[in-house]
Amino acid sequence: MALVTSSQETYQLLTIDDFVGGLRKLREADFTGVEGTLNYLRTARVQPESLQPYLFWNAQHYTRNLIDKTELYELLAICWEVGMKSSIHNHKGQNCWMAAPIGRLAVHNYRVLSEDLAAGKCEIVPTDVVEITPAQPTAVDPLNPVHDVRNPREWKQRAVSLHLYSRPFDSCIVYSCEQGSCGEIGLNYTSIYGKKC
Ligand SMILES: [Fe+2]
Repeated sequence: MALVTSSQETYQLLTIDDFVGGLRKLREADFTGVEGTLNYLRTARVQPESLQPYLFWNAQHYTRNLIDKTELYELLAICWEVGMKSSIHNHKGQNCWMAAPIGRLAVHNYRVLSEDLAAGKCEIVPTDVVEITPAQPTAVDPLNPVHDVRNPREWKQRAVSLHLYSRPFDSCIVYSCEQGSCGEIGLNYTSIYGKKC
């Protein structure tokens, strides 16, 4: 573990194992609201090299790699090739925090004006864009949780993000802004604890 002090902040640079050790010490209340866990992410950054066992790359699609899972949370590393983006989605009412130990990502948020899942119809509008960098983790707003994540082609670099979900969930709603449609999809892992599925 290294303690780093820059002009603006002090943070610890942890191996992923030590980062998980710290996560496991957080209380249930830290996961119920977003601030407790967000503060942990701000002060505990992950050494990129230590993530190596969890990184799997696919030229067609981003990969979802499970690092740790408890009753309270699951922690994934997502590997983004240049130009990749996620669908617009929600998190099934669960809290989500994101950090980017490698590269950076843009989170585009949307507001849901109407949603009829049974009919597969919705109306959503883009709101703001938040950037995630190694120095700037973020939490999804529980009141406006619909977003997509992008690694824009013009940034010309791979990115790896850590996604912390509380509690774990295995399906979500995806949305299309242009078509005004929505539907539920199942979520899979590319790898579990460093082993490809
Ligand atoms: Fe998400």
